[in-house]
Amino acid sequence: MSDEAPTPRAVSVGVLKGGFGKTTTAINLGRELAHRNERALLIDLDDNGHMTLILGHDDAYRGERWNTNHAADVLLDGADPHDYITNVSDGLDLFPAHVDLEDVQSGLKEATMGTTRLKEELVGELLGETYDYIVIDCPANRGKLNDNAMYATGNIIIPLRPENGYETGLTNTVQRLVMEAREYFDLDILAVTPTDLSDRIDQDTRDRRLLREMTTREAVAKHVPNYAYLSPEDWENVDNGAYDHDLPGIRHRATIDNANDEGVPLRDYDPGCDQLQCYDELAKIVETGEVRR
Ligand SMILES: Nc1ncnc2c1ncn2[C@@H]1O[C@H](COP(=O)(O)OP(=O)(O)OP(=O)(O)O)[C@@H](O)[C@H]1O
Ligand SMILES: [Mg+2]
Repeated sequence: MSDEAPTPRAVSVGVLKGGFGKTTTAINLGRELAHRNERALLIDLDDNGHMTLILGHDDAYRGERWNTNHAADVLLDGADPHDYITNVSDGLDLFPAHVDLEDVQSGLKEATMGTTRLKEELVGELLGETYDYIVIDCPANRGKLNDNAMYATGNIIIPLRPENGYETGLTNTVQRLVMEAREYFDLDILAVTPTDLSDRIDQDTRDRRLLREMTTREAVAKHVPNYAYLSPEDWENVDNGAYDHDLPGIRHRATIDNANDEGVPLRDYDPGCDQLQCYDELAKIVETGEVRR
């Protein structure tokens, strides 16, 4: 647990590309924030509802739990968000997605001050009151839901898997989500984190190319957490065989995937997993509001 009283913070986990680790990162970051501070909330804002489904709240996603589109009720009609929150694990709650989030997105387009609703009706209601930290799982496409997440949090954590298209995923996210939002309000990149890495980096692998890209692009490198950062000297050591630290990034672990299959955060599934330290460092970055070397 942290020594100081926490500064409440909400953060978006987003990248304009599907399957890049948003949901896994958001769940496990939220779990570590709850572990360290006791009061954290996940918000599933992705209409695919993967976070909600992974965590076993299918009935909420399909609208059967409360017999209503709870996301529309809260964001468009000002219903009390407390009524639609469910527990995930110790100190960690979830505001689930609804299968018709697309309709909410259309409603937000029409609504007065449609970009501010998530902040006004949900995040602002709960942050610093019921929760110290809020983590939002964002959709992979641009639109009013993403605009709302950016505006409500003022922060983004960008996860990247070493899959085809990570360069465009990163470039699009920075240019079309972050830079465009910055024309209207402050938006900080809190962290850019590689996840699901499994390859060696002393040869020309995709893992290496991804890490090189992240640690040498100036605007991005300063946001790479220490568990994933390699300095120019580290790279020299990698290339001459003298690098003797753990391999960088959140590594591929079967238990991270299995925890998703079992519907629980990693800490609850495999508390001994070595990669929990990465999610813990990510939680500290959210607490302090920046990467510190
Ligand atoms: N470190 C890791 N080790 C093992 N598997 C991982 C790791 N990180 C992510 N994954 C797996 O990668 C896949 C994609 O991750 P995830 O679902 O979190 O991405 P996403 O961006 O939310 O995708 P979508 O756009 O479909 O919602 C999942 O099967 C997840 O379990
Ligand atoms: Mg997802």
